Amino acid sequence: MEYLDFAIELARAGGDVLKHYMTREKQVELKSRANLVTIADKESEALVIQMIKERYPNHAILAEESGASGSGEGKWIIDPLDGTTNFAHQYPFFCVSVAFEQRGEILCGAVYDPLRDEMFSGARGLGSFVNRQQLRVSDTEKLGSALVMTGFPYTVREKIRVAMSQFEAFIVESQAVRRGGSAALDLCYVAIGRCDGFWEMGLHPWDTAAGQVILEEAGGRLTDFSGNPFSPYMKQIVATNGKIHGEMISVLERTR
Ligand code: IPD
Ligand code: CA
Ligand code: CA
Repeated sequence: MEYLDFAIELARAGGDVLKHYMTREKQVELKSRANLVTIADKESEALVIQMIKERYPNHAILAEESGASGSGEGKWIIDPLDGTTNFAHQYPFFCVSVAFEQRGEILCGAVYDPLRDEMFSGARGLGSFVNRQQLRVSDTEKLGSALVMTGFPYTVREKIRVAMSQFEAFIVESQAVRRGGSAALDLCYVAIGRCDGFWEMGLHPWDTAAGQVILEEAGGRLTDFSGNPFSPYMKQIVATNGKIHGEMISVLERTR
């Protein structure tokens, strides 16, 4: 599929920029108290956008650092560096996420982890892959045996009570909880079966659009905290192997 191949090309190009800057001195700016941006975010995004404009000048773009531009039948949704805090501290868990939307539907996406050279990709109806290996979610049946992941928005300090009550409930009810720091990779880790479920509040389309199609094509399920079908334009996300989904929703409903 033409758009999928291009999404992969874009994610790899952005990932090469991140790898270049990983070990170099990089100026870190603050967008807000805890929300960082580095030269790598900016250069990765500039390169990806330039490549899109050359190939598809009539497509729209929604990118984290430069916002929305253009209008057209196709839209590219870009997180040029998902996991900026990790990146800034040289904690090796971050990626580039690129998704393609047409007529309101996410058709395909790619999430690239440049340090492990893992290219996660997926397209509607065509399955999802890491490099050439097809993805399939885990078959963990019960939350009590599940490894679950979460993340916190930069505004978590304003919602600390609810965030901590969810965190506490999952620590008690699951086997263990991880907080990776890259929502796009977290979704891919559910898709590949390295963990069984993920929840977060306060995400943006660039964090979840590519991961959504990759996870759905791997047999996973995504909803909001009430079980409604997920869209990347929603803030809440519960993403699982399908089997522990109901239990995760019950925990979130209880801690609302
Ligand atoms: C962040 C990461 C993190 C999540 C935050 C996101 P950024 O994206 O995905 O895991 O917890 O909510 O904002 O800022 O590193 O692109
Ligand atoms: Ca992000
Ligand atoms: Ca980002």
